[in-house]
Amino acid sequence: MTSSHHVSIAHLSDHVGEEVTVCGWLYNKRSSGKLHFLEVRDGSGIVQAVVFKGNVSPELFALADHIQQETSLEVFGLVKEHGKIKGQYELQVKDLKVMAAPAREYPISPKEHGTDFLMDNRHLWLRSKRQHAIMRVRHSIIKAVRDFFDNHEFTLVDAPIFTPNACEGTSTLFQTDYHGEPAYLTQSGQLYMEAAAAAFGKVYCFGPTFRAEKSKTRRHLAEFWMVEPEVAFMDLEGDMKLAEDFLSYVVAHVLETRGPELEILERDTTMLKKVTPPFPRITYAEAIEILQDNGHPEAKAGDDFGGDEETVISSKFDRPVIVHRYPTTLKAFYFARDKAAPHLALNMDILAPEGYGEIVGGGQREDDLDRLESAIAEHKLPEQAFEWYLDLRRYGSFPHAGFGLGIERTVSWLCGLTHVRETIPFPRMLNRLAP
Ligand code: 4AD
Ligand code: MG
Repeated sequence: MTSSHHVSIAHLSDHVGEEVTVCGWLYNKRSSGKLHFLEVRDGSGIVQAVVFKGNVSPELFALADHIQQETSLEVFGLVKEHGKIKGQYELQVKDLKVMAAPAREYPISPKEHGTDFLMDNRHLWLRSKRQHAIMRVRHSIIKAVRDFFDNHEFTLVDAPIFTPNACEGTSTLFQTDYHGEPAYLTQSGQLYMEAAAAAFGKVYCFGPTFRAEKSKTRRHLAEFWMVEPEVAFMDLEGDMKLAEDFLSYVVAHVLETRGPELEILERDTTMLKKVTPPFPRITYAEAIEILQDNGHPEAKAGDDFGGDEETVISSKFDRPVIVHRYPTTLKAFYFARDKAAPHLALNMDILAPEGYGEIVGGGQREDDLDRLESAIAEHKLPEQAFEWYLDLRRYGSFPHAGFGLGIERTVSWLCGLTHVRETIPFPRMLNRLAP
């Protein structure tokens, strides 16, 4: 037995009739008389390894009876097609070696555990079937995100993590000490993408972003991943079109490649299959009317939407809905204003169906130097820190637009989860910095 020649469980179908070695961990076990059924997982899949008394030594048969959950193993055996389930394979065990038995009983058993307990054991919880499925969907989402932009001639331009200024308002900044100067963990790479768009035309960044959110909700993390495209000479209309094509591509890719994972998650994919362009578009004012007509008579222009409001609005549509032109008072300083109604921002949010809330935020940027300077002053932001950003309006200002998609909210939506804490390998939240 040698682990250098082991076969991954996902590739067993290429080895039917051969004797191979599989390396993995014991996931589950059941026995009946002369048989032990060991469920072994290796990260690529789970295989049933059948230990038949007549095939192995009495010592090995006894050993197989006492292997604990999460023991690391090397299993040698014959690959066979599963007796009952087509497309599944099993191993008829000839030999088996324990690499390491658990030092104590594995804390996560198939029984129900509380969320806090599971979150404390996140480093182990990741091994379970559901978490494994979620992380694979996340992987596919990220691959689709990158493929989409790479295939559309965007250049990846990485944004910095330490920043001297706020992008999305000063109330959610994480401050750090940068060699004696205050610095902030980035809330968004957008401002840097605007600089990059003037150099490369079509750009995107993809990286971790940080918000010191003081609220505990099922949609907010302190550290989350965001993809942010920015395009020169594109207006709000072009931005909405880009976002709906992009989102449709991502959903289609996940449906195409992650069927088994979505099945493990018991995700009903009916609504996901409808995610094709064009998406319905409504103005902020129309969204307020929807709220007033649907159990929120108190809703009025100027209100921001919380999770409940977003759910009511999105429930009127069978696919993601684009809400555009919010009052400028609700939005960040950098938005261009609607010429026909200067109190409205040329922004858009995309609300996911089925109550998953805002997944995309973006819009057209202010490209007029004077108006941008006034907006920075109105938002009481330190002009000095934005001098470089104002330069983008001083040297060949250009209309441009972009958006940000939050990866975790997208994972939550596509997997049908109740909370974003399961959408990222190691979540950072108001009350959680470990493991
Ligand atoms: O709407 P937001 O704040 O927009 C921006 O940051 C823009 N600068 C993006 C741009 O135009 N380049 O955030 C964008 C998205 C949200 O729609 C949401 O999906 C996600 O980022 N998001 C969060 N996800 C998890 N936890 C949080 N605390 C989040 N805050 C925003
Ligand atoms: Mg937003």
